[in-house]
Amino acid sequence: MTDKAGMADSFRGRDFLSLNDYKEGEIYHILDLAAELKDQLNNNIPHPLLKGKTLGMIFQKSSTRTRISFEVGMYQLGGYPLFLSSRDLQLGRGETIGDTGKVFSRYLDGIMIRTYDHDEVVELAEAADIPVINGLTDLLHPCQALADLMTIREYKGGLKGVKLAYLGDGNNMAHSLMIAGAKMGMHIALGCPQGYEPSDEISEKARTAAKLSGAEIQVYNDPHLAVEDAHVIYTDVWASMGQEEEAKERAEIFKNYQVNSTLVKGAAGDAMIMHCLPAHRGWEISGDVIDGPKSVVFHQAENRLHAQKAVMALLMSD
Ligand code: CP
Ligand code: NVA
Repeated sequence: MTDKAGMADSFRGRDFLSLNDYKEGEIYHILDLAAELKDQLNNNIPHPLLKGKTLGMIFQKSSTRTRISFEVGMYQLGGYPLFLSSRDLQLGRGETIGDTGKVFSRYLDGIMIRTYDHDEVVELAEAADIPVINGLTDLLHPCQALADLMTIREYKGGLKGVKLAYLGDGNNMAHSLMIAGAKMGMHIALGCPQGYEPSDEISEKARTAAKLSGAEIQVYNDPHLAVEDAHVIYTDVWASMGQEEEAKERAEIFKNYQVNSTLVKGAAGDAMIMHCLPAHRGWEISGDVIDGPKSVVFHQAENRLHAQKAVMALLMSD
């Protein structure tokens, strides 16, 4: 058995709830497979690694990218995805997440879930005998961060020492980028308004991972300090799903954190602009920046497909 096959064996049956559960070498392995699958797709080479397998996808929140990339990704791997809105499942009528996980395990080969409370995903993973993939919770968005690592690697040639400045809310995206960067030896600088910094729990996890990889993690309450000499500038919505009622109040609090041409001037000359999307032009990012030459936002969106296909193939194949 080659090292590569041995490494692939170590993924079978695991959950993908947080990048913190994976070692640096394992994350590189996923990224390498994602690049291979991207190449195969672009060259019309079939890759039915999950022939006949089924993925149940539970959505308790809206989605454009996550739903389509998982759904299409499953088809491209020779499998079959099932879109399951919580409105239609008995989950919406009080069936427990644990019972749902046990029942799903009798029919399916994998579960993807997008929901609010991260603990629910942990509970689902504990109850299910099949891999559970986190498609976003209030705490984390690891699939997006994985696709972002893939994108940064493509554009910058590597990850070690790359400085990523994240501006805005210390939310699920900020958390997952901190963990991802910490694992891969990057320099993550966050610029967040006071009171909107990342959670202590995630900061602690990121700092622990950073000690192993040599990563640097900084949190500022000043957007200009965070972007200084950054190779990547990243932002996300100011009001996440579930926080719609705070949108107006947040717009005032976050206004100095907008990624616009003035802010970008403080970064490295070849800095690239990232956003997980959906974006709100004129709020967290100006139209000229997101639609400008440094923006890679649609490459990020595309890489969701390749990165998630790699995750599914590694976790769900026989
Ligand atoms: N970035 C992202 O997860 O997009 P969706 O909410 O459209 O899935
Ligand atoms: N922070 C955003 C990310 C959307 C992909 C949200 O949770 O709504």
